[in-house]
Formats: sequence, structure tokens, C-alpha cells
Amino acid sequence: MKTFITSNKEETILLGEKLIKALKEDQNVILLKGDLSSGKTTFTKGIGKALGITKVINSPTFTILKTYEGYKTLHHLDLYRLNDIGQDFDLEEYINDSNAVTVIEWPNQVEALIPNQYILVELTYLDENKREIKISSHNTDQSWEEKL
Ligand SMILES: Nc1ncnc2c1ncn2[C@@H]1O[C@H](COP(=O)(O)OP(=O)(O)OP(=O)(O)O)[C@@H](O)[C@H]1O
Ligand SMILES: [Mg+2]
Repeated sequence: MKTFITSNKEETILLGEKLIKALKEDQNVILLKGDLSSGKTTFTKGIGKALGITKVINSPTFTILKTYEGYKTLHHLDLYRLNDIGQDFDLEEYINDSNAVTVIEWPNQVEALIPNQYILVELTYLDENKREIKISSHNTDQSWEEKL
């Protein structure tokens, strides 16, 4: 596990970008945990940047899944409202898409669907501009730690 403190949103974006560049091809499930406004979507913007996605990544209301195409596909799931709006598609299919990177905000909503191997990013609001960001490997290679 590694812990970082970012002092502005740009640093959080940069950390997301560096993480993707440091991960191996098969390390493609990233769980983002943290309160509202802790920076989960901001971190995802960095992931998108590393994947060559030029569209703006945001968290629109009433959408729980968005797929973006870059050098590689990104599935961005924001499950905060899953219980309110339900789903009319197979979430598991997106979570297990080995050709894509899948990022899940509020993964506790779908615990049973989370694969055995994943990278966990835990974000904590420290003050208006500072966030603590802990990144850990679960049943997967940790060599990314040396590159961050
Ligand atoms: N160091 C920082 N890292 C990330 N975001 C920051 C930082 N400092 C300030 N911010 C601001 O905090 C907000 C984080 O919002 P963001 O949408 O990324 O959070 P979130 O965790 O996805 O929230 P939600 O649970 O509502 O989806 C943004 O407005 C961003 O500009
Ligand atoms: Mg968000």
C-alpha cells in the first residue's frame, strides 16, 4: 500500500495518470472509495488521460455507466444511485471486460460482483484542496508501487 497527499485537483489527476501507466495490462479493475467530493471522479480524469481519452469525464446525474474510447476502452461506473435508478444492463459484463479498464465509484453497492483481483484507491477529504489517497493491491502484483 502507498499513501499520497495531493494539494490540488491537478495533482490528483496526475496520480491517476501515473497509476495507469505503472499498472500491468491485466490490472484493469480499479475501485474508488471515498465520501462525496473526495476526488474519485477527478482521479478518474487522470486515468482517462493515461488511456488517451479526450472526452471530458464527469459524473452526470442518472447515469451509472459511461464507456469512453481511447488507446484502450474505459468503463466508468458511478454506482452511488444504483438503488434509485436500477440497471437495465449486465454490470458484470463491464466489470469483467478484460479488454477495458473498469473504474468503479461506490463499489460497495456491488460487492458480490467485484473480482478477486483489483486495485483499491481510498480517498479522504483533508481540507478544501488536500486529499489523502491510499492505493493498495488486492491479490495482484504490487510492482506499480516502485513506479509511483
Ligand atoms: N486535491 C484534490 N484532489 C481532488 N479534487 C480536489 C482536490 N482539491 C480540490 N478538489 C475539488 O474537489 C472536488 C472533487 O470532486 P469529485 O467529483 O472528483 O469527487 P467525487 O469523489 O467523485 O464525488 P462524488 O461522490 O460526488 O462522485 C472537485 O470540485 C475538485 O476540483
Ligand atoms: Mg464522482
